[in-house]
Amino acid sequence: MNFQPMAEIAEQAAREGGRILEEWAKKFTVSEKSRANLVTEADFASQKAIHSLLQDSYPSHGFLGEEGLSAEGEDADFRWIIDPLDGTGNYVHRFPYYGVSIALEYQSELVVGVVYDPNRDELFQAIKGEGTTLNGESVSVSNNETLDQSMLMASLPVASDPSNPAVMRFLNVLPRAQSVQRSGSAALNLSNVAAGRLDGFWSTSLKPWDMAAGVLLVTEAGGKVSKVNGSEFEVDQPDLLATNGLTLHQEIQPHLK
Ligand code: IPD
Ligand code: CA
Ligand code: CA
Repeated sequence: MNFQPMAEIAEQAAREGGRILEEWAKKFTVSEKSRANLVTEADFASQKAIHSLLQDSYPSHGFLGEEGLSAEGEDADFRWIIDPLDGTGNYVHRFPYYGVSIALEYQSELVVGVVYDPNRDELFQAIKGEGTTLNGESVSVSNNETLDQSMLMASLPVASDPSNPAVMRFLNVLPRAQSVQRSGSAALNLSNVAAGRLDGFWSTSLKPWDMAAGVLLVTEAGGKVSKVNGSEFEVDQPDLLATNGLTLHQEIQPHLK
């Protein structure tokens, strides 16, 4: 099947979602509380525009979106997975690291992934079997082989207690890698693994919309995605380890137990 037309609509929808987020962000001159309310509205406005663009082209497809969107389509083969704003905390504080994430599954397999970063005007796109592009140019994962050479990113649950196993995993890896960071947007982290700017990313607390698009970006860019223990990745499970696929993918696993 040719997924190119779907990828084009996904790109259009992601850019429109990003435009809406930036428009809403200009309204953030009010109190913190109202700000949070505006963010919810920004999320919804972005999702509504994305959903409507996709649905106009593909009315029979299913949809799963973070902001309460769950619709089974007449055509059960297709499911769009949408995060209209990934990196909400960053967005609220105007830290420019957030984006829009849109993926398409066909027969339960990821076939299209698009992540748009409105701050850098960067559009990451992957189609199953056709590689990953960044603003239309082909990209691939990094070639740092080992854990001690690597720059990694992790996602921790918001407001984690120090004894949270996710914090322990982070601390375990910290002395073993060249650099370990936490950035607040899983979708952009995966995009940056795909583009070779990061060597790996892991989390054990993700939702399908945080990672569906980014996972395809990484695998199509030549990287590897699994659960943190190395077993097969599943989009409906919270657990993900995405790397350039080199030695470090194995090497890191004992430290993520
Ligand atoms: C969050 C981001 C973050 C991850 C959180 C997610 P949101 O998504 O992806 O990196 O650590 O688990 O909830 O809430 O900003 O869409
Ligand atoms: Ca979100
Ligand atoms: Ca998210």
